[in-house]
Amino acid sequence: MEKWHRPVLLKEVLEYSGKIEGAKVADFTFGEGGHSEAFLERGALRVDALDRDSEALARYRGAGKFANDPRLNLLHGPFSKCSELLKDKDYDIILMDLGVSTRQLLQPDRGFSFQKEGPLDMRMDTSSGPTLAELLDSTEEEDLANALYQYGEIRTSRSLARKILQRWQEGSLKSTLDLASLMGPRRPGKSHPATTLFMALRMAVNEELSEIRVAIPAALGKLRIGGRLLVITFHSVEDRLVKRTFQLDAGRCICSERICACPRIAKVKILTPKPVAPSDAEQENNPRSRSALLRCVEKTLPQG
Ligand SMILES: C[S@@+](CC[C@H](N)C(=O)[O-])C[C@H]1O[C@@H](n2cnc3c(N)ncnc32)[C@H](O)[C@@H]1O
Repeated sequence: MEKWHRPVLLKEVLEYSGKIEGAKVADFTFGEGGHSEAFLERGALRVDALDRDSEALARYRGAGKFANDPRLNLLHGPFSKCSELLKDKDYDIILMDLGVSTRQLLQPDRGFSFQKEGPLDMRMDTSSGPTLAELLDSTEEEDLANALYQYGEIRTSRSLARKILQRWQEGSLKSTLDLASLMGPRRPGKSHPATTLFMALRMAVNEELSEIRVAIPAALGKLRIGGRLLVITFHSVEDRLVKRTFQLDAGRCICSERICACPRIAKVKILTPKPVAPSDAEQENNPRSRSALLRCVEKTLPQG
């Protein structure tokens, strides 16, 4: 982990993980390795770590603090494929720290930044899947509008989708800065107006919600009974999905039907009745942590 990198909600992650010494851990979002290193420093038996970004894994293999530690096993792939990537089913702790890493955001050539010129890419895995440019080439206006609304809750999604596709088709939308300029200038004291647009497009390019939908039940299937799943989200759409999935797995009703259609079988116990937010000090020291929320469940019944 580089000196500038600060893993989000680290103290809280370690606290909710339970006993770490001797634990078998799966880190589904290795990134710069901050959380994985903390598990290894505290005596984890093994850390199997996934990331869909092969550049992040290669960088760590080259210079990471625990790169040569036999307890760390780095694997390339999306966490929705964890059933294929990981053979064990007796993990004590599984962590998902969702979204993009600070490094991905700051590297203009990855196309995530609305502040620096970059290509319309936005893939976390640069070796597969369509880029944002390829998505714009093939998408219908209505589908784009739906994505902007679903992922970014952008109320002007229809007119914005039309504007994006018009500019794309006339050839005046070539870079991340062209895209950001569609949202107008930044106002003092406010977040950049392109923040939500970029997040929504990134989620569409990387199919982030369906990744989470597949991965949570698969992760629960990989835990031993008593093992814990911890998920850190960075915005309300993701957090709502994690919260509802955990409630359903805890045997609660999440439907609004007159006759409940929820399975009502408790397979987990919710350890965070309210999501855990970073302390004031962390928010001040690491502005990226401000929107982070941690939820944690403990597996109580066999499944998967
Ligand atoms: C917020 S960063 C994780 C930071 C990490 N916990 C640390 O302390 O360095 C998220 C990482 O997860 C990866 N990622 C996001 N979605 C993924 C997915 N569906 N499958 C695998 N990796 C994913 C990203 O490529 C990124 O490197």
